[in-house]
Amino acid sequence: MYDKVKLDYTYDGLEPYIDAKTVEIHYTKHLQTYVNNLNNLLKGYEDFTDGKTLEQILRYPKKIPCKIRTGVINQGGGVSNHNFYFTILSPNAKIKPEGKLLDNINKCFGSFDELKEEVSRVTIAQFGSGYGWLVINRKGKLEIVSTQNQDTPISIGMVPLLTIDVWEHAYYLKYKNLRADYVKNIWNLIDWSKIEKIYYKSMGNRL
Ligand SMILES: [Fe+2]
Repeated sequence: MYDKVKLDYTYDGLEPYIDAKTVEIHYTKHLQTYVNNLNNLLKGYEDFTDGKTLEQILRYPKKIPCKIRTGVINQGGGVSNHNFYFTILSPNAKIKPEGKLLDNINKCFGSFDELKEEVSRVTIAQFGSGYGWLVINRKGKLEIVSTQNQDTPISIGMVPLLTIDVWEHAYYLKYKNLRADYVKNIWNLIDWSKIEKIYYKSMGNRL
C-alpha cells in the first residue's frame, strides 16, 4: 500500500501564493484519488511490489506487469509526483540555494535568476497538463525538463530536484488562466534547503 506524504504545513500555510482551498482539494481529493487508484490496481501484485518504494517501481517501467503498466505509470506517477511537489514546498522556504549546488547552477545556467527564468519558461510552456522539473540527469548534470500528464523523469533515470505542477487543479481557483503568475509566485515556496539535501545525497562523491 502506498500513501500520500504527510504535509508539514497546514492547508493555509502556503498563502498568499497558493490558497488554502487549492491545497486542501489538491491534497485530499486529487492526490488521494491517485493513491486509491494505485492501491486498487496493485491488489494481487504483492509479489511484484514487495519491499519496493513507488519510485523504485517507476524507475523501471518495463518491469511493471504489462496488464497494469499504463495504470501504474499514470496513477503511481500521480502519487509520486504530488508527494514530491508537496514535499519541496514550504511556508518558510529557503528561497535560494548555496554552496556547491549554487556553484553548479551558476556554471550550467549562468546564475540562479537565469535558472529560475528557464525553469519558469519550460514549465509555463508545457502544453496541457504536466510538470516542469529541475533534475540531475544520467550524466550527473543539472537539467530542466517538462513532462506530460503524470509521467515522471524518474522513469528515464533522472533524479528530481524540484517540480512545479501545472495541471490546472494546482492553480485554477486562485489564478484562473494565469499559469505564469502561479509559476512566478511559487518560487516563494520552493524550499532549497530540501532540494540541497536531495542534491548532495544523490551526487555523493561525484561532487
Ligand atoms: Fe496536481
